[in-house]
Amino acid sequence: MGKVYIVGIGPGSPKYLTDKAKEAIKGADVVVAWDESSSYELKTIERLTEGKKLYLQNGENFVKVYEEVAQEYRGKDTNIALIITGDPCISSGIKHLTRIFKEFDIEVISGISSVQIAAALARISLEESAVISFHYHGEVELEEKMKELLELFKRGRHIIALTGEVTPNEIAEYLMSKGVDGKTQVLVCENLTLSDEKIFRGTLNQIRDKKFSPLSVSVIINPKKQ
Ligand SMILES: C[S@@+](CC[C@H](N)C(=O)[O-])C[C@H]1O[C@@H](n2cnc3c(N)ncnc32)[C@H](O)[C@@H]1O
Repeated sequence: MGKVYIVGIGPGSPKYLTDKAKEAIKGADVVVAWDESSSYELKTIERLTEGKKLYLQNGENFVKVYEEVAQEYRGKDTNIALIITGDPCISSGIKHLTRIFKEFDIEVISGISSVQIAAALARISLEESAVISFHYHGEVELEEKMKELLELFKRGRHIIALTGEVTPNEIAEYLMSKGVDGKTQVLVCENLTLSDEKIFRGTLNQIRDKKFSPLSVSVIINPKKQ
């Protein structure tokens, strides 16, 4: 019987693509990956997809594509690699994926997350941090997410925010409006590990009016943990 591999490919640079991920992609008959200008998936794995049946996704059709692939290969002896940026267990809808492919034998292959790269740049411990994703998968309201972020910061956690549908500026604005000190240290990590990587180090106050790439991770340093 074929198998479904949910493969984390790291944050973009092929230097962060693990041997385990390469093996799974090389051994697959079918590869499912995002193909959008803002997405680096195909570039990261470009030499590994030759001769494979490729299913391409975008923001509009990604669920449909997964469902189509599940329908097409159910009960067949086909190995399928579902390509996921960073690590599959961070803000990548793993719950939905495992539901769609519930009739398959599934293996999740961990990848190096943008969250880990950002934590390394900020030199903070993940166990003293909270990861907040602003990719909702239609489940949680923005206001609720913001409240959760504030709560966790007040309780002494560093915040690592995947700033998908919300900008770093909006997060800064919200925190300051709730009384968080504008001098709080922040990193905004854009296009990590890619050729146009940029790291901004400053304060909440300073990022208020700056423009950042949609592909960014913000780290808000908690002074209680310094
Ligand atoms: C749908 S989530 C997937 C996260 C991914 N599973 C991970 O572990 O990095 C996409 C978000 O991750 C962050 N991200 C992923 N790759 C990135 C990179 N190379 N540079 C900066 N942020 C990145 C951005 O916040 C982006 O909006």
